[in-house]
Amino acid sequence: MATDKAAGAFPVDQPVKALIRDHDMVRALADRYLASDNPEVRKQAGTQILQSLHMHSRLEESIFYPAVRSIDASLISHFEQDHLKVDDLVATLEGMSLDDSHSDTLMRELISAVTAHIQEEENQLFPRIEGSGIDMTPVGLQMQSFEANLVHTQAQISDGSIRRR
Ligand SMILES: [Fe+2]
Ligand SMILES: [Fe+2]
Repeated sequence: MATDKAAGAFPVDQPVKALIRDHDMVRALADRYLASDNPEVRKQAGTQILQSLHMHSRLEESIFYPAVRSIDASLISHFEQDHLKVDDLVATLEGMSLDDSHSDTLMRELISAVTAHIQEEENQLFPRIEGSGIDMTPVGLQMQSFEANLVHTQAQISDGSIRRR
C-alpha cells in the first residue's frame, strides 16, 4: 500500500502490527538458527534472538499487557508466566558463548517456548483486541516512546556513556 510507513517506522495507530513484525523477525531468526549447521551463523542468529526478545518482552510487559488486560486477565497472566520462563533461558544463554552443544540445547528449548508463546498471542489475544473497544492509538504512542527510550539507553550502555554497575 502506498500509505504504508517506511520500514522501521513504528505504526502508532496499529501497535499490534508492530508486535507481529517483531514476532516475524524472531521466527525468521529462529528458522535461520535451526536451518544452519554453521557455528558462526548460529551464533549470530542466536545473539539477535536474545536481543530482540529482551526488547519485545519489556515492551509487552510495561505497556501492552497492562493496556489489554481487561480483555482476559487470566490469559495475560499466563503470558506473563511464559515471559518469566523465557527470561530465565535468555539470562542463562546471555552468559554462554553460544557455540557448544549445551547452549544449542538451551537455544532450541528457548525457540520452542517462544514460538509457542507468540503463536498463542497471535491466535488467542490479538484477534480480540479490535472488538474490545480499547483505543489502541494512545497505547501505540506509549509503545513507540518506550521502544525509543530503550534503544537509546542500550546505545548508551554499549558506547560506554552509561556503565553497568
Ligand atoms: Fe509475549
Ligand atoms: Fe509478543
